Amino acid sequence: MEFRVKVDETTEQAVEACRQASSTKELEQVRVQYLGKKGELTGLLRGLGQLSAEERPLAGKMVNDAKTAVEDVLKARQQELRDAEQDQRLAAETIDISLPGRPRPQGTLHPITMVLDEIKDIFVGMGYQVAEGPEIENDYYNFEALNVPKDHPARDMQDTFYFNENFLLRSQTSPVQIRTMERQDPPVRIIAPGKVYRSDSDVTHSPMFHQVEGLLVDHNITFADLKGTLQLFAQKMFGVHTKTRFRASYFPFTEPSAEVDVSCIMCGGSGCRVCSNSGWLEILGSGMVDPRVLTKVGYDPAAVSGFAFGMGVERVAMLKYGIHDIRLLFDNDVRFLNQFAAKGGCQV
Ligand code: DAH
Repeated sequence: MEFRVKVDETTEQAVEACRQASSTKELEQVRVQYLGKKGELTGLLRGLGQLSAEERPLAGKMVNDAKTAVEDVLKARQQELRDAEQDQRLAAETIDISLPGRPRPQGTLHPITMVLDEIKDIFVGMGYQVAEGPEIENDYYNFEALNVPKDHPARDMQDTFYFNENFLLRSQTSPVQIRTMERQDPPVRIIAPGKVYRSDSDVTHSPMFHQVEGLLVDHNITFADLKGTLQLFAQKMFGVHTKTRFRASYFPFTEPSAEVDVSCIMCGGSGCRVCSNSGWLEILGSGMVDPRVLTKVGYDPAAVSGFAFGMGVERVAMLKYGIHDIRLLFDNDVRFLNQFAAKGGCQV
């Protein structure tokens, strides 16, 4: 009888200790204290030897039942404490996503890149493909095939940098016209953006600058197609109210040729300092591809005709953003460049 009381008391204490344990660590101590090798309930099993042979089986069962009961409580409590501890850990590890990030300084697109992209977008939208050619050109593509023979006076306007008799830094993007036509039959509809070089340097000229060349060759292409195309380009580039004016001019590779002016984007045509009070700004050269150029690339001028144009990207950028000195575009002064972040480049 006394033994049963002892078992009951120990069991109660063990169960209470399990409930009191506030961490898995403490609970482990409770397990060792009651169920471990030298634990109190285990100890009671050892004490069975002092009981009589009749009492022993019943008492043994009593202790084993008690051990099972305590083990059940212990397991349940263990689960509870583990869950609670995990919740705590997760709560402590939570990342506060409301904290503002640390912004990294980022560059901006260069104004020339922005204007180039804009020009490309407009012509790609009209079905043109972008073509490229080498910056180191040979005399044939840069001049000869474009109807500018060796001692032609037109070479004076485009003095460039020579490697030797034959190789030079291209002075215009027009050689891409020739390279493209040599590669494919009509219809041709390309623009060729890229760097060009001339031995020129002042506030409006840089030894390296960018041009975009355009070429369209197909059946029945007329000057009206050229005018319509460039009028649409001018409106998309400078605004719907922009007017164009075609002035007769001369280029060796086009006949007839025209310089194209747009109504001044500063004053709208009424006259201001930027347009020298003329109301007009010259932005590109153009014309109908000279039959001799078509013949040189193996096209039949009786069957196909085409137009071409070329413009300086720096000039367009300078007009668009009111830049007075072309050298600012290549000095890479971040105080200058950062001003274009808000105009469509990546924000700093
Ligand atoms: N290549 C000329 C230049 O650099 C620009 C130009 C004028 C290109 C008329 C053309 C064109 O394709 O038709 O001054």
